[in-house]
Amino acid sequence: MKPTIGDHVSLDNFPRTPLLFGPSPIHPLPRLSEALGGGVEVWAKREDCNSGIAFGGNKVRKLEYLVADALEQGCDTLVSIGGIQSNHTRQVTGVARHLGLGAVTVQEGWVDWPEPAYNKVGNIQLTRILGGDIRMDPAGFDIGIRDSWKAALESVETAGGKPYAIPAGASDHPLGGMGFANWAREVAVQEAEHDVFFDHVIVCTVTGSTHAGMIAGFALEGHGNRRVLGIDASGTLDQTTDQVTRIAHNTAGRIGVGRDLGDDEITVLAGYEGPAYGVPDEQTIDAIHLVARTEGMLTDPVYEGKSMAGLIDLVGTGVIPTGSKVLYAHLGGQPALSAYAGAPGLG
Ligand SMILES: Cc1ncc(COP(=O)(O)O)c(C=O)c1O
Repeated sequence: MKPTIGDHVSLDNFPRTPLLFGPSPIHPLPRLSEALGGGVEVWAKREDCNSGIAFGGNKVRKLEYLVADALEQGCDTLVSIGGIQSNHTRQVTGVARHLGLGAVTVQEGWVDWPEPAYNKVGNIQLTRILGGDIRMDPAGFDIGIRDSWKAALESVETAGGKPYAIPAGASDHPLGGMGFANWAREVAVQEAEHDVFFDHVIVCTVTGSTHAGMIAGFALEGHGNRRVLGIDASGTLDQTTDQVTRIAHNTAGRIGVGRDLGDDEITVLAGYEGPAYGVPDEQTIDAIHLVARTEGMLTDPVYEGKSMAGLIDLVGTGVIPTGSKVLYAHLGGQPALSAYAGAPGLG
């Protein structure tokens, strides 16, 4: 029987459309670990190379569950929303194309970034190449539900299509946390393969369902000794923390965790978000340089450079103690780099 919201069932009972190469790669970062003093062992799990669709990323993983639902409902167009340099809308459009569906994306002015090429290169360029129906909107940053997105949904219906509604970041959706609940299960399998246990997981969080899905998924796995540390990159900490909390509880219920999540399982840390969403500071750029120059691993100035700055600081200050094994969730985002070529240190 198809599970409905509120059923307590395991992950495998939820329809999933495979969009990834398989489990995303996991590997140690020995030279970064050494640069951080050699007291902790840092590894990465690579959602930035998880799929052959439009450069992949964390949204492709989430969409495995949402598009299974869309296809089951007979929808023909995915409709979503994000900023101009949204990784999410690029991935929604890529996944739609891969499945022979239409894509409509509202692209808002989430970031006040002065470069003339900001509206042309990076993610928006890729979304245009993918042939998405892009609706530009001047509204500023907000992870909530927007009238422009509702209008886009209505426009598909008016034209005789059947839209499938995907909110910002595929987060505030009944299935938003499922992809990363499944990720947690993948981590547990990879830990057994590599004979390692990650006592700390670092994840960038903005619209919240990546982090929330991990919390629920690890709760289902049942290891008590793991801390999942969300690094806020939204600059709107309360809204993101509320959204992580809500989605974590909903997802835990949906996948059958069978107990309430404790407050100590939900940690969203501020201090690494820079001046605003989408704007890097010196700490972000230093983090991007360090991991690029020790490991050849690229991170972006909007998301992963900030969570990497968090990791570096938490190790340096001993919040992540000596002897820890740290898993850095690399969620993608490098396609935005070219839009930031004018940032000091990035061009
Ligand atoms: C590269 C990258 N990292 C992190 C995030 C944050 O994930 P979430 O929105 O699920 O919190 C996003 C999307 O918002 C992203 O594109």
